[in-house]
Amino acid sequence: MQYVNKESEIQRSQSIRIQMNRTETNDVNGSSCVKRIKLSQDVPDQESLYATLRKVEEWLQPFRLPKEKLREVSARLRKDLIRGLGKHTHHRAPVKMLPTFVRATPDGTEKGDFLALDLGGTNFRVLHVRVVEEQQKMVKMDSKICAIPQEIMLGPGEQLFDHIAACLSEFLESLGLKGHTLPLGFTFSFPCEQIDIDKCILIRWTKGFNCSGVEGEDVVKLCPVCHSVLPMAIHRRGDYDISSVAMLNDTVGTMMTCGYRDKSCEIGMIIGTGTNACYMEEMKNVKRVEGEDGRMCINTEWGGFGDDGSLKDILTEFDVEVDRSSLNPGVHTFEKMISGMYLGEIVRLILVKLAQEKMLFGGEVSEALLTPDKFETRYISEIEDDATGLARAQDILSELELPAGPEDCAVVHLVCSTISTRSAELTAAALATVVNRIRNNRGLNHLCTTVGVDGTVYKKHPKFSHRLHDTVHILAPKCDISFLLSEDGSGKGAAMVTAVAQRLAMQSRLLEESEGEDEDEEDEDNEEEDN
Ligand code: GLC
Repeated sequence: MQYVNKESEIQRSQSIRIQMNRTETNDVNGSSCVKRIKLSQDVPDQESLYATLRKVEEWLQPFRLPKEKLREVSARLRKDLIRGLGKHTHHRAPVKMLPTFVRATPDGTEKGDFLALDLGGTNFRVLHVRVVEEQQKMVKMDSKICAIPQEIMLGPGEQLFDHIAACLSEFLESLGLKGHTLPLGFTFSFPCEQIDIDKCILIRWTKGFNCSGVEGEDVVKLCPVCHSVLPMAIHRRGDYDISSVAMLNDTVGTMMTCGYRDKSCEIGMIIGTGTNACYMEEMKNVKRVEGEDGRMCINTEWGGFGDDGSLKDILTEFDVEVDRSSLNPGVHTFEKMISGMYLGEIVRLILVKLAQEKMLFGGEVSEALLTPDKFETRYISEIEDDATGLARAQDILSELELPAGPEDCAVVHLVCSTISTRSAELTAAALATVVNRIRNNRGLNHLCTTVGVDGTVYKKHPKFSHRLHDTVHILAPKCDISFLLSEDGSGKGAAMVTAVAQRLAMQSRLLEESEGEDEDEEDEDNEEEDN
């Protein structure tokens, strides 16, 4: 790896140009660590830099997870998946394993026009999507983004759903679609207990949302007299109608859009603001839903892993602090070690501590560095960029009013890569658990499967995906995994889930009709015989 610093004022003025060769290798425990750091040219006191980096590296050891530890984590999650699926163990299980009532992935015959809603981050989106059977593709016809201001994210649920309904109304108006009846897919990316494809009760808010009066409520019901929140918001406006609703999680949307392109895609994974995965489970293992045949997609909600204390041995004081100061302490422990909403904050807390321990910024901290959430997760991706990372680190640190020299930039880089590596490796441990489970379920020696992936951490971080792939390969050696990047799984996926639900409904209607005809024919035959 090479880092070439070009732009930075300070470095130019000091005529410092850093070229670092850093090799990440495996130590005896198998964890990744800095083995060799070589600086060329002009860095004052290279020996002191090596010494500092070695000291910081040692200090960061609790974040380095040897492969054996990752295997243990994976084994714990395996037990939690089983607890989450069980009829009698589910209610206490930290990993909820929620049935989604999605019973099939696309078969390529789906078609039609759909409306899609997407809520799961700080924006809400409405989309008009056309699924074209002949060309096997999904076309996003139009879309509109509405920001969700903080006061709505934390206000009454009614206000949130009114905001959504107003956004939808404006969208339909602008397209001249009012008065048309289109099926609606709603990607609602929070943990929900689904009772059917169109009934879903919010278990709890995550990712910075905390609207009152929604937890424990059914988010959608088609019948206007039901006590649901969204349809009442839609009907309150009374100016448009919707023929059917399918509710889904963003992981499911991701699996379904990728499944349309690749039939072996049976896992959807998100590593963005939050983290989660879904996969196709055997119905006979889904103990809380009747029926033994076929498969159903399970939304694992793996973000909740560790909420019962099972990850205590790997939590650091910084993870505990991030949790303590979050909107939902004690909830989504695993997510808080992995996802974009929290990674920057973990790094910030570490930088403060390193400064206080005189290993960084000459022992100084700025007001900005002491402000929660000031160190954004995207900075980690930028700083870890091979070509521009160290220069960017310099700029970011001066924006944060920190007196940072080249040595500080190298230390900050080391902290960022340690935290993002831990995130990638923990995600790999969780994914390995899921693929190993699918392989066991099917009694296969070898599984070939595809994972549909979305999320800014996975897509934007320059090294995250490689680290994840390498680690999952080690932890699930009998599985060949392809990774397919989802293109707008949360949006188009909503259309796809609705389309598949409609296809299945149509198929079962045709089946019922033909069974009815068979019965009629049998009756006629019997009557003829009687005569
Ligand atoms: C959070 C939500 C989950 C979602 C994930 C990714 O973990 O609880 O439902 O899938 O974020 O957006």
